[in-house]
Amino acid sequence: MSDLHTPVLLKETIEGLNIKENGIYLDLTLGRAGHSSHILSKLNTNGLLIGVDQDDEAIAYSESRLKKISTNFKLVRDNFVNIDSILDNLGIDKVDGILMDLGVSSPQFDDVSRGFSYRYDSELDMRMDRRNELTAKRIINEYPLQELVRIFNEYGEEKYSYSIAKNIVKERENHPINTTFELVEIIKRSKPAKELKKVGHPAKQIFQALRIEVNDEINVLKKTLNKALERLNPQGRLCVITFHSGEDKIVKHLFKELTITEGNRFDLPINEKEKEYRLITKKGIKPSEEEIERNHRSVSSTLRIIEKI
Ligand SMILES: C[S@@+](CC[C@H](N)C(=O)[O-])C[C@H]1O[C@@H](n2cnc3c(N)ncnc32)[C@H](O)[C@@H]1O
Repeated sequence: MSDLHTPVLLKETIEGLNIKENGIYLDLTLGRAGHSSHILSKLNTNGLLIGVDQDDEAIAYSESRLKKISTNFKLVRDNFVNIDSILDNLGIDKVDGILMDLGVSSPQFDDVSRGFSYRYDSELDMRMDRRNELTAKRIINEYPLQELVRIFNEYGEEKYSYSIAKNIVKERENHPINTTFELVEIIKRSKPAKELKKVGHPAKQIFQALRIEVNDEINVLKKTLNKALERLNPQGRLCVITFHSGEDKIVKHLFKELTITEGNRFDLPINEKEKEYRLITKKGIKPSEEEIERNHRSVSSTLRIIEKI
């Protein structure tokens, strides 16, 4: 297990934020301060970095890391869906840049006790915020069959959702399903032999779906994007890094809907003129071959950037 998290699309994100040395920057997914440490090092004493994470360990680790760079930062342990109260409590109205690097960090994923990974045998948990009550174990043991099928389909795009959910329900009639390895065994049993030979772990999509449901990731993302955009100063940018197509679609469509099309602003139709944002990334930015080679976890990442006009 490692304490380190290699920040994904680091150069592209830092460039994309277009950092002003006296600006206010909000990192809504602080993690291990991989991106934040670079943001902070670009700020002068009038600048401010605000780091948010719902995980107590992320806050504690980042605090000691950032202190070595400078003191003009504030860290808040909260869910980023509460962006409005987080900023209001700090007496801040608008900021110059916001980062969302979604999902979990490597140390969370690799910590056996957190129950995120199909590679280690542990209690099914997957909570980013351990104050919450909903765990992966409760979902697996309590959700009705149709709900399990829905989350496996929607959040995991799993082809064998029904057969996996049916076997989960059958198994739990005899005894509770407590661990990651018990679940992996049921998933493997529910897929045809030819599927098990394919590249990639057979439990990957189900584990992704459970993590999204435990942390309500899709709803929280949808609610937060609009609120975050409202908090940008003119020329302020929102950078969002996603790790699967469900998330990326949400970001892509919202950014498209809110931004002006190319061309001279004065020649645009009325409804276009009223738009308040412009798209910085026409296409999502993907990691280079070199980055994927160095950090395989970057492989599915996409960065999209929007700017307040
Ligand atoms: C991919 S990691 C970020 C890594 C970070 N950029 C770095 O380089 O160290 C995502 C982090 O965001 C946090 N997170 C995810 N969703 C969150 C939410 N809704 N509210 C607050 N924190 C969240 C996770 O706990 C995790 O620490």
